Amino acid sequence: MLTGIIGGSGLARLEGLTITHREVIRSEYGEPSGALTFGQMSGTDIVFLNRHGPGHIIPPHRVNYRANVHGMKQVGVERIIAINAVGAIDDGLNPVDLVIPDQIIDYTYAREHTFFGSEDGPVKHVDFTCPYTPELRRKIIDTAAQNNISLTPTGTYAATQGPRFETAAEINRMERDGATIVGMTGMPEAILARELELDYAMIAVVSNAAAGRSGEEISVDEIMSKLQLGMDKSRALLELAIPQL
Ligand code: HPA
Repeated sequence: MLTGIIGGSGLARLEGLTITHREVIRSEYGEPSGALTFGQMSGTDIVFLNRHGPGHIIPPHRVNYRANVHGMKQVGVERIIAINAVGAIDDGLNPVDLVIPDQIIDYTYAREHTFFGSEDGPVKHVDFTCPYTPELRRKIIDTAAQNNISLTPTGTYAATQGPRFETAAEINRMERDGATIVGMTGMPEAILARELELDYAMIAVVSNAAAGRSGEEISVDEIMSKLQLGMDKSRALLELAIPQL
């Protein structure tokens, strides 16, 4: 089973990946964010895609999620692990922490969010009760436990539209809704993977306290510095987890 990794902010390149080749592909939904990078991680074949494209130029609401997920499927990927930077809504979470979310609340809008929306295809309703594949999450969580990598094994990911950060009131509302982390790129990626019957899980890397939670403005410089450490941790976890999948 071929594993695809979609890296977000802070993970434009995947160190630890022995690259064999890159492939620019087209899908019927357009072009993915960049070339797919093929190679081995811990001796296991993987395909890597940088979600925001070379130079981090594609904002969250303009990522072609359909082309990215369909492109992965086209080259034979059967499961995707997404790496996403997130803000912490839950007070117990701090920058550099990892979370393996089990739920999503989708606040995004006006994104191409389904493969089943065309007029010529049959209407399809897909079960999304558990938006992240439980067995895939379990393997990642078990690998972390066996290797003393600390993480939070559940969480509810609030997907926001961006590219702006949220207001303090929006974050308070998301907390009342039950969300523990917030990010801009978790949807529609997860549902598109489900529609194509790909297993999908997320390693969320906390880069900052969400709006209104730290008494300070959210600074991208601060996020980037924390993100680097968090991404190193997520990469260490990936290197250990990938051969176990
Ligand atoms: N909000 C939304 N997306 C994010 C954040 C945040 O605070 N941090 C990293 N991605």
